[in-house]
Amino acid sequence: MENSDTHQELVKSMPRIGDKAPDFEALTTKGQIKFSEFAKDKWVVMFSHPADFTPVCTTEMSGFAIRKDEFDALDTELLGLSIDSIHAHLGWVQNVKENTGVYFDFPIIADLDMKVSKLYGMLQPNESETAAVRAVFFIDPEKKIRLIMYYPLNVGRNMSEILRALEALQTSDKYKVAMPLDWKKGDKAIVPPPKSLDELNKRLEDDSVEKVTWYLAKKELS
Ligand code: BEZ
Repeated sequence: MENSDTHQELVKSMPRIGDKAPDFEALTTKGQIKFSEFAKDKWVVMFSHPADFTPVCTTEMSGFAIRKDEFDALDTELLGLSIDSIHAHLGWVQNVKENTGVYFDFPIIADLDMKVSKLYGMLQPNESETAAVRAVFFIDPEKKIRLIMYYPLNVGRNMSEILRALEALQTSDKYKVAMPLDWKKGDKAIVPPPKSLDELNKRLEDDSVEKVTWYLAKKELS
């Protein structure tokens, strides 16, 4: 598959950071959706899993469900997807609820024809030709893709990192700052580096920021 035309086409059409999120219509566990009209004025975390009724996927979906309140608090809607039928989704949601009490209370796309998986580069044939990889798309209220994660079939994602990255993106937008290694809520953020010698000289005299050096300075966020 590596160099086939199909593979090349899939790679070429993969959306990237900064792109408008491709629009689609799909059947979900909460009914039909048109993505451009879904979660208006909110962030969306859209994620795929390889298959219903599989162990790693069950832990991950449960993770999203258990921490849904934290996504709500960040004004973010969850949207799951796998290449399974709506009946499989309903059976799995009910099965997990009965076995563990965890309820997947967010829409999950039944992407049996692989239309959405292909549109979003979730189908990566050298990993699997029939199952979506573990993708996470962070999409802002303007429906622009802001961050993408891809995990293989055999490694589950980290829910704390997904939430941390979402909050980092939102905080970066709000304060026009950048987020350093391991940034978490309450930490200082990086102020943009100077773009001229005048700005550099001002930065050197600015005691309101914590300077490691002129191009690396941090400040508290109020
Ligand atoms: C799992 O979720 O456990 C899984 C799904 C597909 C392939 C491998 C593992």
